[in-house]
Amino acid sequence: MTHFNSYQSEIYLQGLADVRPAFTTDPTRLEEAARAAMEPGPFGYVAGGAGSGATMRANREAFDRWRIVPRMLTDATTRDLSVTVLGTRMPAPVLLAPVGVQSILHPEGELATARAAAALDLTMVLSTASSHTIEDVAAANGAGSRWYQLYWPSDNDVTVSLLQRARAAGYSTLVVTLDTWTLAWRPRDLDQSYLPFLHGIGTAIPYSDPAFLATLDKTPEQDPQLAVLRWIQTFTGTDHRWDQLPFLREHWAGPIVLKGIQHVDDARRAVDAGMDGIVVSNHGGRQVDGAVGALDVLPEIAAAVGESLAVLFDSGVRCGADAVKALALGARAVLLGRTYAYGLALGGEAGVRHALRSVLADLDSTVALSGHRTIAELTPDLLRRV
Ligand code: FNR
Repeated sequence: MTHFNSYQSEIYLQGLADVRPAFTTDPTRLEEAARAAMEPGPFGYVAGGAGSGATMRANREAFDRWRIVPRMLTDATTRDLSVTVLGTRMPAPVLLAPVGVQSILHPEGELATARAAAALDLTMVLSTASSHTIEDVAAANGAGSRWYQLYWPSDNDVTVSLLQRARAAGYSTLVVTLDTWTLAWRPRDLDQSYLPFLHGIGTAIPYSDPAFLATLDKTPEQDPQLAVLRWIQTFTGTDHRWDQLPFLREHWAGPIVLKGIQHVDDARRAVDAGMDGIVVSNHGGRQVDGAVGALDVLPEIAAAVGESLAVLFDSGVRCGADAVKALALGARAVLLGRTYAYGLALGGEAGVRHALRSVLADLDSTVALSGHRTIAELTPDLLRRV
């Protein structure tokens, strides 16, 4: 049994000692709080999206078109929100999405996130663009549960090396991101000429990788510019093909999840390719401008492949009700992106914990007050399209 909504009592009780929460409890307001705390370059990198921002807006609008219809007298006093996804047990169907370059948010970056995730028993997905190494993040995550996200390099030796390191460091599932094989046109970053990688941020994993270092004539310390350009060429600029997926299967012993699926035919191809899961996602509106809201395509994809592989969801999830809607529409679990990233910017590990606990408490309350006790009970008839 989980009582995530006990965070509420904790906060009210602290009020008796005149203590207020250090950060807003409204996850939809974390962005504005983070804006005030961050430098414009890093803030724009996190908050921004592709082109005109239409996809980010579409993500939020898609949630607004669905409303929850609560049920009464259902004995929802005690609840169990736990799920098992691809062999990973989770106390609630919520993961931390891969978010790269976290040291632009807080000096401890992914290490702080890994500790916060472990403290709450939530699964963290580590980005290939991490500002700390695969091994250091694993150490910070300790007995926590962790998956590894791959930006699929064009160099097979580097790919194999990254997969071996991740597996050896206890990352159980591989998440392959397909939608960012090259960087989108992102005016907010372009206007400030700001790309963290060019400042040497988000390169900890390749710079600690023997296979990548072997491709360089000089070490990254000797020639930082050459090293970063080589890395950018290795992990972006080359699109892969469906017929290359067996290569990943050959070199990864655990489940494989494809992230960035938005078309039902691609979801079917993932099944045909023997994949274990997909993340229905448009990368938080950061890649294709003018794309469909991610939640808009979730129902048809879940209906087509939900029995054959694990359908996960991200892009635009901000609060408990958003998670309930995505779960009711067929997602097995949701990933939070910017929501915890802003928590990290505001307060490091404590900020991430607060952001996550706020969403979990809100999710727990929403499940309870809409009359449900388990995640399996969240089905489409809980929602009305308006
Ligand atoms: C991301 N995302 C991302 N995805 C990925 O597969 N690898 C990565 O390195 C990153 N890096 C990254 C950095 C930043 C600053 C953001 C905001 C996002 C995308 C992420 O995993 C997820 O798909 C989105 O964040 C979900 O959208 P919301 O919830 O942020 O709207």
